[in-house]
Amino acid sequence: MGKVFVTRRIPSVGLERLESLHDVEVWEGQDPPPRDLLLEKVRGCSGVLSMLSDKIDAQLMDSAGPSLRGIANFAVGYNNIDFQAAKDRSVQVGNTPGVLTNATADIAVGLILAAGRCFGPAIGNVQRFEWRNWEPMMFLGQEFEGKTLGIVGMGRIGHAVAKRMHGGWGMRIVYTARDQKPEAESSFHATRLGLDDLLRQSDVVSLHCPLTDQTRNLIGARELGLMKSNAVLVNTARGEVIDQAALADALSQRRIFAAGLDVTTPEPIDRSDPLRSQAQCLILPHIGSATQEARDQMATMAANNLIAAIEGQPMPFGVTR
Ligand code: DGY
Repeated sequence: MGKVFVTRRIPSVGLERLESLHDVEVWEGQDPPPRDLLLEKVRGCSGVLSMLSDKIDAQLMDSAGPSLRGIANFAVGYNNIDFQAAKDRSVQVGNTPGVLTNATADIAVGLILAAGRCFGPAIGNVQRFEWRNWEPMMFLGQEFEGKTLGIVGMGRIGHAVAKRMHGGWGMRIVYTARDQKPEAESSFHATRLGLDDLLRQSDVVSLHCPLTDQTRNLIGARELGLMKSNAVLVNTARGEVIDQAALADALSQRRIFAAGLDVTTPEPIDRSDPLRSQAQCLILPHIGSATQEARDQMATMAANNLIAAIEGQPMPFGVTR
């Protein structure tokens, strides 16, 4: 039996599995554990089940000590984990790919429609009791039928968004990816382009790349300047992929039509961030994977990853690089 620290309460289907085999402590706070406490809590642990909001670095691994066998992230993204530090210490790292694809793709589609059709300002109008008449010229949005969708990062989630928008709205699909994606090309005639060409041609740009040194601030002032004035930019990947100050400028100068963000930098977004006051910027509190189905499966996968690592077996969903 090993000692395991779980940094937030997760669905019981995963916790019960872990608890049947290990000595598990769950952080019950509404906010993530403060850093000092986190370092203390992991001491002597064989496994840590972490959230994307926990910084899992060399200091934390050293604080856990030589008993540490695995870090199981309750997320598909793992940019919060220093993978090299884990490798150096023979600590396995796991994530939860696949099971949140549909949930996150649905949120991206929701943001495309909601940002493109001005849901944010329109809902605000009703809530502030400002709705007076049927207005011929208010909240005029974008239509998507037959237009072009640019997918930045044609992985599982990008593919699922393209499938929905091509099948449902007949959108032409262009994409960027490190490699050619034959399935996307044969299923919905997707065309691979360089980023600049994708930005120039797309009416909707949806970001699905992981956060790496190469993708940090991938969409800055120059890139926003290439986009169409009717364009809708959607981000369900990581906030750091967009230069937020540049996006706020582009929106205030109406260089693009709207943005829909499920992720920001930092999270939660600062009270003073200019994006908060942009009517055409719709912001969700990182709910891409927030369905019961996805979270139950994420909990099971993360628990299984940790159990395997503590037993000295390869994690079923281990990260390899
Ligand atoms: C992930 O799992 O990386 C997602 O961002 C969660 O919504």
